[in-house]
Amino acid sequence: MTDALPRETPETDAAAAWWRQAVVYQIYPRAFADADGDGIGDIPGILSRVDYLAALGVDAVWLSPFYPSALADGGYDVADYRDVDPRLGTLDDFDAMVAALHERGIRVVVDIVPNHTSDQHEWFQEALAAGRGSAARERYIFREGKGEGGVEPPTDWVSVFGGPAWERVEDGQWYFHHFAKEQPDLNWDLREVRDDFLKTLRFWSDRGVDGFRIDVAEMLAKDFSDPLPSREELALIPIDGNHPLSDRDEVHEIYAEWRALFNSYDPPRTAVAEAWVASHRVPRYASPESLGQAFNFDLLKASFDAGEFRRIVSDNLALAAESGSSSTWVLSNHDVVRHPTRYGIPADPAGSTAEVQHGGEWLRAGGDEALLDRERGTRRARAATLFMLGLPGSAYLYQGEELGLHEVVDIPADRHQDPWFFRTGGEEPGRDGCRVPLPWTTEGPSLGFGPGEPQLPQPAWFAQHAVSVQDGDPASTLSLYRRALALRHELQDGEQLAWHESGRADVLWFRRPNGWQVITNFGTEPFALSGDARILLSSDGATATEVPGETTVWLAPTS
Ligand code: NOJ
Repeated sequence: MTDALPRETPETDAAAAWWRQAVVYQIYPRAFADADGDGIGDIPGILSRVDYLAALGVDAVWLSPFYPSALADGGYDVADYRDVDPRLGTLDDFDAMVAALHERGIRVVVDIVPNHTSDQHEWFQEALAAGRGSAARERYIFREGKGEGGVEPPTDWVSVFGGPAWERVEDGQWYFHHFAKEQPDLNWDLREVRDDFLKTLRFWSDRGVDGFRIDVAEMLAKDFSDPLPSREELALIPIDGNHPLSDRDEVHEIYAEWRALFNSYDPPRTAVAEAWVASHRVPRYASPESLGQAFNFDLLKASFDAGEFRRIVSDNLALAAESGSSSTWVLSNHDVVRHPTRYGIPADPAGSTAEVQHGGEWLRAGGDEALLDRERGTRRARAATLFMLGLPGSAYLYQGEELGLHEVVDIPADRHQDPWFFRTGGEEPGRDGCRVPLPWTTEGPSLGFGPGEPQLPQPAWFAQHAVSVQDGDPASTLSLYRRALALRHELQDGEQLAWHESGRADVLWFRRPNGWQVITNFGTEPFALSGDARILLSSDGATATEVPGETTVWLAPTS
């Protein structure tokens, strides 16, 4: 097969471009490994699993927040941006972990949560004590209420996790919170806020951190000038640069300063934006003048469907090229239902699993096991994963997906932790089901997660997925991931692909510049191969002449 695809990447310095095709493994620290037995995963726990991460073959880890936090939102309510939660360890532990990961060639990305602090942050405590009109309140978004005595919130806006977006404090003023009431939004118009985050970014960069994942990157800049629109009016304002709360053009002034800071390091620190914005707005965040890369959540929202997958890949490769960045791919993370479960539940009435990413009808109705086809979900998930890992760009994996974990749907009401569950009175199942501590072995009080009981209960079936069970089994999902990552390292080439028409609407086939080919059969009928194909890897039992239904194969370059 001829090599007609361009190979060059826009950036030529290999050390600086490590992130462009990286496999980044997301660690949700409190659920990864618990060294001290308090039930909460910790940094020494991660340190004890560095060999596991190296054997898996990831290029980087991204740590969800590990900072001091009251855990009103799983750590995304940060009380101190420049420290480690004492339950998770110390700064020395952090340094030791970074050193051990670096020694194994694994880079470290940390989560930065700039839109809001915890209500326990010293700034917010100061704001409460200092009272209305104070400089301390200026750091947040405080307003007087409406109606007689200001007893009504300034607007009727609803927070992301449900319930009002304003909370009243003792002296009668209200503050704005996009998320839970324990997460007051910062006022990014203030130079002091901007400087403090630059200090935080420098703090972690100086400690050897290689990059940052930016939480709700689209929300920092806001326009709170009067009159504030009503909820109804707000919903009618297009989100294209001038919406009061989201994706305002001037947010990139903030990131331009961050970029200058990142580029002052050698190699430059990287950043990836978590920005839930319209596709055509994504390149702004991913451009080299801004954060440099942005998540694309389209695969995570898609059904297991060839047409959807193809459109998503083509669109996102074009967007990445437009921005000068590489594309990103995600099937699971700590905010959504795990992909084997998404692919195994009955389709919603619109025929799409997209709705289930944050709960969906099936989960809301209690997650009836009888309606979940676990085996099929797993099979499709393995196929989707191999498809994703064959794509150019960075792949973000979420801890536990390499074990083929499904969502835990039967968490007892009194064990839930997610504010989404609480703020909707349990109507939304929330995200705890994908945050259950990992099973490492089949025994002990927490299946090897640690010496104590886990902070979220593990179901009995978790044991079947334990690392110790899958370790030596060539057919296991863990072995598939290890093999795929090792091969990907050898094969990854260029940032382009070419579609090859398979002749079937439910079969996608693409080729990379070096001739590496990926075929995914999304249908149930086997797909015939010519017989001279050399199969490097198959998600489930392909032969030289046939790709079974719901299966991906990787084919070696033909010559
Ligand atoms: C996005 C994070 O991924 C999610 O877990 C968190 O709840 C919100 N941002 C608020 O920080």
